[in-house]
Amino acid sequence: MSEAGHKFLAKLGKKRLRPGGKRATDWLIAEGGFSKEKRILEVACNRGTTAIELAQRFGCKITAVDMDAQALEVAEKSAETAGVGHLISFERANAMKLPYEDASFDIVINEAMLTMQADQAKKKCVMEYLRVLKPEGLLLTHDVLLKEAKESVRQELSQAIHVNVGPLTQDGWEQVMIESGYCDVKVLTGEMTLMKLSGMIYDEGWLGTLKICVNACKKENRKQFLTMYKMFDKNKKNLGFIAMASHKSQIVR
Ligand SMILES: C[S@@+](CC[C@H](N)C(=O)[O-])C[C@H]1O[C@@H](n2cnc3c(N)ncnc32)[C@H](O)[C@@H]1O
Repeated sequence: MSEAGHKFLAKLGKKRLRPGGKRATDWLIAEGGFSKEKRILEVACNRGTTAIELAQRFGCKITAVDMDAQALEVAEKSAETAGVGHLISFERANAMKLPYEDASFDIVINEAMLTMQADQAKKKCVMEYLRVLKPEGLLLTHDVLLKEAKESVRQELSQAIHVNVGPLTQDGWEQVMIESGYCDVKVLTGEMTLMKLSGMIYDEGWLGTLKICVNACKKENRKQFLTMYKMFDKNKKNLGFIAMASHKSQIVR
């Protein structure tokens, strides 16, 4: 049975399920100015890779949410194993209706999820993040970049990963943030490394990559892996990643 691309890659052993991999996440972390005192919300944490790294590096308290109960179970176990279970609270929640009070967090981080939402839903999510951010708060996002607005590329990507995705151009992503009440948007763009061999080695290490490749070669996984691999390879000039650091605007709308 064909499953959503991120679930399929997670099943093969991939830990970073995001277009620009570790490089884009490292940029976001550098922009974030994380410290022990800051309250962090990670939305769409999946198996908790970023939340665990943040807790290990900065000793900060993190609330990490996702809709996928199974992924959250894996995340909780991994955080315990990494010795940071006491710092992270994993909770099942929808990005569009977060169960937190206004102005609760200093930083919201959200990787590879907005791309999965329709255009109006993207705005609904980032406005919900704006609500839970403190007045000086910062939103860190990481998504799929469409180099040119081509509907055919969007359709090919949606078909290959079995999710109806909506990647945007750089202008499109910046517009989502500005129109939703953010300002001073800082941007990093680059190539899509999710399924590139060099990107996998950088993100998952040699052993991790070997494990993914062995699993991808299994009869039951081969067809879906090749379909995704070929689509990303064919569209490597059209697709990339965009990482954005957006500040909560002080202007009341
Ligand atoms: C492509 S994965 C990215 C996971 C992780 N952020 C990473 O970069 O490795 C997208 C994640 O978004 C989650 N998701 C999708 N829609 C969501 C929503 N409305 N609220 C919370 N999580 C959502 C999915 O369950 C999945 O774990």
